[in-house]
Amino acid sequence: MKFFIDTANLAQIKEANDLGILDGVTTNPSLMAKEGIKGSEAVMQHYKTICEMVKGDISAEVISTDFAGIVEEGKKLAAIHKNIVVKVPMIKDGIKAIKWFTDNGIKTNCTLIFSAGQAILAAKAGATYVSPFIGRIDDSGWDGVELIAQIANIYSIQGFKTEILAASIRNALHIVKCAEAGADVCTCPLDSILGLLKHPLTDIGLAKFLEDAKKFA
Ligand code: E4P
Repeated sequence: MKFFIDTANLAQIKEANDLGILDGVTTNPSLMAKEGIKGSEAVMQHYKTICEMVKGDISAEVISTDFAGIVEEGKKLAAIHKNIVVKVPMIKDGIKAIKWFTDNGIKTNCTLIFSAGQAILAAKAGATYVSPFIGRIDDSGWDGVELIAQIANIYSIQGFKTEILAASIRNALHIVKCAEAGADVCTCPLDSILGLLKHPLTDIGLAKFLEDAKKFA
């Protein structure tokens, strides 16, 4: 399973990248706004900086919602760097645009996936990735990880090549559960990635080893 970081914060991207386990980055308009980036020039420059920092796919989301606008915006984003993946919302014109990008050799990430039906449609259009939003599904009283397992089963039966990018990850357990359920990628906040490191018995065990090491140092 690939690890992406879900942020537009350069310090967090650097910290995850320095671990040596990072395969890519996802962003969305909310994450970009959080960093205080203003204006299309600054947005484009920010994506370029991220592409230069991390070797791997970098999702950049369109904000247009009509076919012509999505295609125009997506072409500009894709021109920034070869690793840009155009992130397109799961709407009718979005599906049409994903098919256009597929036919024109541009990678896509179909975002805001909340059902298996949506995942099937995105795969039919040739999306490189689909992003089911695990945490938001959990928040609404359903089981987000179950959706990952359902999509993984369907894609396997049908032979779809679209990769399942588990998004809206809230904690380390989500990452483990998504790995079990067959996600190809998990895009996670830095805290959730670092959460994988933690176990109290590791801390207790290390403290004891270091204490005992003093006896022969
Ligand atoms: C990723 O591509 C999504 O935009 C992101 O994971 C959404 O996460 P949230 O539900 O925490 O906003």
